[in-house]
Amino acid sequence: MSEATWDVQDGAIVEQPRNVRKHPLLHRIYERHDGLIAEQLPPGRTLELAFGQHMHPRADVGLEGWPSNAETVRKPALAGDARALPFDDDSFDAVIGRRFLHHVPPADRPEIIREAARVLRPVGRLALLEGTPGLYRKLTKGAAFRLGLLEEDTDIYGHLSETAVTDLVSDSFEVIEKQTLGSPLMLASISESDASARLLDLYERTQFVKWWTLVVGERPESGA
Ligand SMILES: C[S@@+](CC[C@H](N)C(=O)[O-])C[C@H]1O[C@@H](n2cnc3c(N)ncnc32)[C@H](O)[C@@H]1O
Repeated sequence: MSEATWDVQDGAIVEQPRNVRKHPLLHRIYERHDGLIAEQLPPGRTLELAFGQHMHPRADVGLEGWPSNAETVRKPALAGDARALPFDDDSFDAVIGRRFLHHVPPADRPEIIREAARVLRPVGRLALLEGTPGLYRKLTKGAAFRLGLLEEDTDIYGHLSETAVTDLVSDSFEVIEKQTLGSPLMLASISESDASARLLDLYERTQFVKWWTLVVGERPESGA
C-alpha cells in the first residue's frame, strides 16, 4: 500500500490530513468551529466540500479530492473535485467548506464558489472557514517545523485574507456573517499532549490573533 499522504490533482493539493484527534486542543478548536458553522446553517440537505478525515455533523453528503478519505467516513461521500460538482442545480440547502480553499490555485477558487451557488437552492447558504495569512502564522508554523512538530508544508498557495474570502463569496452570494477566530495559543494546538486540551478556556479568552475567518453567504432569492 502506498505511503503517500498527499498529491497534486489538476493543481489542487489533495491529501489525507492529520488525524486531528491526536492533537487534543486542535480537536476541541475544530469542534468549536463545527458548532459556530452549525449556528449559521438553515435546516435541510447539506453538502460538505473537501471534508478531509472528518465530516461536519450537519453534512448529509460529502465530496473529497483524496479518494481514500471518502472511504473512511460513515456518511455518503464521493471522491471528486469541488471545481466541478457532480450534483444537480438547486439540490442543497447548505454547503460547507472548512479549511480547504487554500489548497486550490487562486485562479480556480471563483469556480468553487460558482459551483456551490449552482447546487444551492435560493436562500441556501454557503459557510466557509479558512485560515488567514499573516506574520503570526508564518512565525508559528516556522517554529513548529523547526521543532519537528509538523513534517510537510502543503500550504503552497498561501492562505486567504478575510477580504479575499469575502470578495470570493460576494460574487455569487450576499455575505450575511463574518467572524474572525484565532489566538496566540495556536502553537499549542499542534501538541499531542492531553494537557493541551485544557488550554481551550484560555484559547477562548484570547481570540485576538487572526488565524481563521468564517464567512457565510446566502444565495439571493432570484438566483445568483
Ligand atoms: C487542510 S485539509 C482540510 C480538511 C477538512 N475540511 C478539515 O477542515 O479538517 C484540505 C482538504 O481539501 C481537499 N481538497 C483539496 N482540493 C480539493 C478539491 N479541488 N476538491 C475536493 N477536495 C479538495 C484535500 O484532499 C484535503 O482533504
